[in-house]
Amino acid sequence: MTSDFRLYDNAVPFHGFHCHRFETLASTHDLLKEWVSQGLAEPGTVILAKEQTHGRGRMGNAWTSLRGKGLWISVYFQPCLPVDWALAWNMNLALAVCKALDTVAPWGGWQIKWPNDWVSSQGRKAGGMLVENQLRGSLISDSWVGIGINVDQDAVDARLPFATSLMAEGHGSPQAMGATAVALQEKLFEALLTELEWLRDAYGPQKENWNIPQIIEEVDRRLYGLGQNVPFLCEERTEYWVPLGLSHDGGLRVRSESGDLAQTLYHPHHRMTYTLNL
Ligand code: BTN
Repeated sequence: MTSDFRLYDNAVPFHGFHCHRFETLASTHDLLKEWVSQGLAEPGTVILAKEQTHGRGRMGNAWTSLRGKGLWISVYFQPCLPVDWALAWNMNLALAVCKALDTVAPWGGWQIKWPNDWVSSQGRKAGGMLVENQLRGSLISDSWVGIGINVDQDAVDARLPFATSLMAEGHGSPQAMGATAVALQEKLFEALLTELEWLRDAYGPQKENWNIPQIIEEVDRRLYGLGQNVPFLCEERTEYWVPLGLSHDGGLRVRSESGDLAQTLYHPHHRMTYTLNL
């Protein structure tokens, strides 16, 4: 049973979150899901592990989560949002993480690669998010959000040309002088929960407090590929589109390079693929 690995018997409170730290887990996401199904998690439950042996990425991919190399965390929310807000919910989460990255590692020039990744200005991925929602009727009743951020991986790994880390992007940057991976991880954890705090409480009727134009403006400012002709995987085919910005429901407004076609793309039918912006 996973609880053998618990570092703390009691959750540590932080900004209204209940944080459970583990040395090793198969996956923070799977444990959180298990706790939710057993009624053991409350909104604001956070699970954090130094290492995951079976970290999960999107679309069934494995997520490499070596000990101490990054922030591996899952957070439980009860957003109580209409199901057609799912992508907007996702984009709010992506924005919160991007702001936390800006706070602790400002040298990275972090951008949101719509809808779930954070990349350097060159388009190298430093982290990704796995959001799983449970519906009750037409509402998103439960949402567990897994966030993986590479903090201490090497700058260039020929096998992973699109990957980077906070430390790797900091090489040579005066802002990153003296930064250590351990300190960065801890700061990132705190910055992340600080950014996520309002979303924990912005559920149900309080979602009326969402300032959608401001959220769109903040995402657009950080959107990777904005104004460039970039490849998307659309139903197994590669298509090129120029991102124009976020739509009110979290889709990506795009136009063709010539400008004679325009549409809004929705995940998971459309995904931006990786190319380096060197
Ligand atoms: C992706 O880019 O495919 C999403 C990666 C999400 C990884 C995180 S690490 C913490 C949480 N636990 C998991 O098993 N996965 C997520």
